Amino acid sequence: MKEFYVGLISGTSVDAVDAALVAIDGEQFQILATHSEAFPEAVANDIQALVRSPGTINIDDLGELDTEVGELFAVATKRLLDAAGTPASAVRAIGSHGQTVRHFPEGMSPFSLQIGDPNLIACRTGITTVADFRRRDIALGGQGAPLVPAFHAATFHDPGELRVILNIGGIANITVLPADGAVFGFDTGPGNCLMDIWIQREQEKAFDRDGAWATSGSVASDLVAQMLGDRYFRRIPPKSTGREHFNYRWLEAALNEAATRPVPTDVQASLLELTARSIAESIERHAADCKRILVCGGGIHNAALMQRLTALIPGCEIESTANYGIDPDWVEAAAFAWLARRTMHGLPGNLPAVTGARRPCILGGVFVGEPT
Ligand SMILES: Nc1ncnc2c1ncn2[C@@H]1O[C@H](COP(=O)(O)OP(=O)(O)O)[C@@H](O)[C@H]1O
Ligand SMILES: [Mg+2]
Repeated sequence: MKEFYVGLISGTSVDAVDAALVAIDGEQFQILATHSEAFPEAVANDIQALVRSPGTINIDDLGELDTEVGELFAVATKRLLDAAGTPASAVRAIGSHGQTVRHFPEGMSPFSLQIGDPNLIACRTGITTVADFRRRDIALGGQGAPLVPAFHAATFHDPGELRVILNIGGIANITVLPADGAVFGFDTGPGNCLMDIWIQREQEKAFDRDGAWATSGSVASDLVAQMLGDRYFRRIPPKSTGREHFNYRWLEAALNEAATRPVPTDVQASLLELTARSIAESIERHAADCKRILVCGGGIHNAALMQRLTALIPGCEIESTANYGIDPDWVEAAAFAWLARRTMHGLPGNLPAVTGARRPCILGGVFVGEPT
């Protein structure tokens, strides 16, 4: 039976709320409409401030932001459905990832915290909302991340070849899809986040369009080697990370340790190199025979980064997920629509081989919608 779902996510880049309306009919999956809702600058700044300052969070700020982000996710949904001409009553459920403000999946009391109150989303839209996707997996000893590999497997697996799905968001993650149907995946480390942070500080631009600024500089090999020495890159999966680790403090510490501090342009070139190398080395180590990489996430638009990846991974076709039916900018939002369906049908959404959880489980809390 054909059902409609909405997927909502704002990633670690805090660039926008992505909303996708999808139709799912058994194995058939189709994106019907998309909408991107920009963050008001004040909200984006407040989120960045929360993400930047571990240990100093003010509960009042957190509570207010939870409400503001929830309202924004509801607005994004309404605008999506208006543009699509689809009534809320036609949508079985929303899958809202929310906005991650902390991801600490290890230690004595691991947790991952996404904000964007789902009560508000259910109330304002009238649509049942599935949210808080990560914590059941963490309760079962998993990382709670990445969660997109199950969707990647359902959508992009090919029985004829080993494929890797590479998502370059703020953080980059890979899903390894061997021909036999097994699934494996993890966060490789920084995606766009370090390049974004540096150009934001040095040039007050949101991101380095096409990697043009990075291309105008020279890679400082010592700095890249030193940054690649970070323990995260050597860790064996399951593993996941976020801006709690790869942030401005991390970068500043690396620059302070460097024998000579490169000029800003060369730092950007080095961050692009670090991003490409850490991704390429992860693929080499965990999917050495890979013949095809399907790329999604905002990083696919960074032409210089894509060129560097192509050079570092010879013998492998690097393509956009668009060639396989899903626009690369909408894979993550689509994944949370797909995960909401899993929950509504009582099906597990996590993959223990990816997250390290003790077993598969039904993800998220269900906030029942009331017709408005
Ligand atoms: N034309 C472009 N050139 C370079 N980078 C780009 C371009 N378009 C998008 N990006 C990068 O993609 C990021 C957004 O990617 P996205 O997949 O939305 O990440 P997230 O999931 O963290 O929100 C931007 O912050 C930017 O770094
Ligand atoms: Mg985004």
